[in-house]
Amino acid sequence: MAGGSDKIDYVFKVVLIGDSAVGKSQILARFARNEFSLDSKATIGVEFQTRTLVIQHKSVKAQIWDTAGQERYRAVTSAYYRGAVGALMVYDITRRQSFDHISRWLEELRSHADRNIVIMLVGNKTDLEDQRAVTTEDAREFAQKENLFFLETSALEATNVENAFQMVLTEIF
Ligand code: GTP
Ligand code: MG
Repeated sequence: MAGGSDKIDYVFKVVLIGDSAVGKSQILARFARNEFSLDSKATIGVEFQTRTLVIQHKSVKAQIWDTAGQERYRAVTSAYYRGAVGALMVYDITRRQSFDHISRWLEELRSHADRNIVIMLVGNKTDLEDQRAVTTEDAREFAQKENLFFLETSALEATNVENAFQMVLTEIF
């Protein structure tokens, strides 16, 4: 903790969205506890985890919310987005459909969240490069067009997960 004190200067709510099985819960597990599981169960309802980081000498508590990608298990949309200052919008680089659905997730996000929310597009599962179905260029182009930050991650290999949250939290800051 900064300066040996445990004072929290800011609490930032960040939401995870995207289709079922893209890896939202494992990205969160990696970020919050540095854990990963291959037999992760589909999320039902809402879960959240927190982690405190130091950003520009201030201690920031990131409160990360995670809900189901499956419609029938999803939380009440308006409550989920309320107060969120950041969002990670996740697709699976090996499943084209999960990328094609991103425009719908973005629509939902833009209609429910604060207009200043910081949004990062995240292409997860880069460890499965041999099964890639979405090129980095396609995703980068979409992100530029929509004014989103963009990174590819692997929750399994812990690639860029830290960076993705750091970038969003720093930008909120
Ligand atoms: P819902 O809760 O249903 O919305 O799904 P989710 O997006 O939370 O997916 P979850 O994190 O449960 O991961 C789904 C599956 O993908 C699990 O088997 C994970 O182990 C696997 N997975 C998640 N991230 C990665 C990754 O980076 N690489 C690989 N190879 N598998 C991953
Ligand atoms: Mg989940």
